Amino acid sequence: MAILDKIFTAEGSPNIALIKYWGKRDEKRILPQNSSISLTLSSSVLKTTTSVVLSKNLKHDIFYLDGVKQDLSGKDIQERFSVVDILRRKADSNEKALIVSNNDFPTASGMASSASGIATLVYVMDKALGLNLPEKELSIVARQGSGSACRSMFGGLVAWRKGTSPSGGDSYAEQIFDENYWPELIDNIVVVSQERKKVPSRAGMLQTVKTNPLYGSRPASAEKRFQKMINAYRRRDFDEVAGLMMADSNEMHALMMSTIPPIRYLNKSSYAIMDAVDELNHSEGRNIAGYTFDAGANSNVITLKKYKAKVLRALSPMLESKEILYIKTSMIGHGPKMLGESSSLIDLKRMRPF
Ligand code: PMV
Repeated sequence: MAILDKIFTAEGSPNIALIKYWGKRDEKRILPQNSSISLTLSSSVLKTTTSVVLSKNLKHDIFYLDGVKQDLSGKDIQERFSVVDILRRKADSNEKALIVSNNDFPTASGMASSASGIATLVYVMDKALGLNLPEKELSIVARQGSGSACRSMFGGLVAWRKGTSPSGGDSYAEQIFDENYWPELIDNIVVVSQERKKVPSRAGMLQTVKTNPLYGSRPASAEKRFQKMINAYRRRDFDEVAGLMMADSNEMHALMMSTIPPIRYLNKSSYAIMDAVDELNHSEGRNIAGYTFDAGANSNVITLKKYKAKVLRALSPMLESKEILYIKTSMIGHGPKMLGESSSLIDLKRMRPF
């Protein structure tokens, strides 16, 4: 049963894909062409905080993102917001919601803000509606707002198996190893641009599947790497994990670039980061760092704690020249969690953000 006029607040965090999802087999249900794998980042470094109140006094949904009231009539936002209706239908509720969500990192710049935002929204709405669905179900709902969001429903190393059912009932994320399995692992989030990405991932991947003559080989190639990645992670074999993640990021960006018309998310600084990581690995004689890029120019450079100083030294000339704006280092994080009343973002008296 929906719980009215009580504020529910949760936090969640982005995930960074090591094996990428870039292409759907069903646009409407958001079913991927291949399975993917990600690491959930720590909410103490990157987080979305979302508060929800359901009220009989509301005539329509209201959504504030990073302090700005959103127009809910746009196609893109409606698709993402569909998760709220899916949950309301499950709860047999028609109560409208005031939702206030803040990201403490740049929105829509290839830092998985939609994954973090949608996973957190689904998680907190589920509680506000009194549904308390299992995480697997929540991941299926989150997937329908934005594919990669289903992976942010869990902490640690998370796999989204593509599934085969046309309904999408077997296309959900699951935790493979929790956030404590490999405590040595860290992710350096290397920010070179705060701009919003030019081509949203949804439109970009559709264009790739439709027009790219090379796309045919992608699903099988990703699937093979998917299995290898789980095995390498199980053995905590960093050299292999880094090799696989770089290969998969490069394959995805090669596909983006050979889409017609081409989609280019990487910029000069992104290539300079790849060069620095390649040189470092070359001089060490094995991979001690691995880069990966989503739909944007910013990078995630994953390494082990003992190599952090070497990695930062390799990137420091770019930091000094301001080609890199900043670097944030994250541990591997847990899935979304509920927060206490003191974390609420909603002023209940005025029914708006504080
Ligand atoms: O779920 P979306 O529409 O945000 O697409 C995510 C696509 C990539 O971030 C580029 C890859 C991935 O698997 O996260």
